[in-house]
Amino acid sequence: MIVAVIHGPNLNLLGVREPDVYGSVTMSEINERIEALAEELGIEVTLCQHNSEGAIIDAIHQAGCEADGIVINPAGYTHTSVAIHDALKAVPLPAIEVHLSNILAREDWRKLSMTAPACAGVISGLGAESYLLAVRGIVAVVEAGE
Ligand code: DQA
Repeated sequence: MIVAVIHGPNLNLLGVREPDVYGSVTMSEINERIEALAEELGIEVTLCQHNSEGAIIDAIHQAGCEADGIVINPAGYTHTSVAIHDALKAVPLPAIEVHLSNILAREDWRKLSMTAPACAGVISGLGAESYLLAVRGIVAVVEAGE
């Protein structure tokens, strides 16, 4: 099984970016934890980060050809992107949306996710652990669909 993990804009700055909100863990450290979990679960992961909406859409399309499931943190595009929603709907594989922070406990405009309705589920507010739970979750969703 191959899971494509897609990090959205500004997540390359984790560790220095608003540590009071997002914690001190870097994206590389999150990726290392994901790779260790993948080994434990006996799956493959691909990891990428893009700051632009079009590149994220391209990564979703590529995952549609190569992977069995997607874990995506659309970051700021969560709240705005019809195009990422449409891309997730356009590919024939399930996705789980991830957020480090609890978007429901923040500003009102963060409470709306444009992308979540295109996903099988959302994990939000558990820091780096959100990603690890999402990887376990997408494996269960893919296996249930087989
Ligand atoms: C985020 C939450 C978003 O609202 C924000 O724009 C981000 C990160 C999170 O992981 O908590 O960039 O997706």
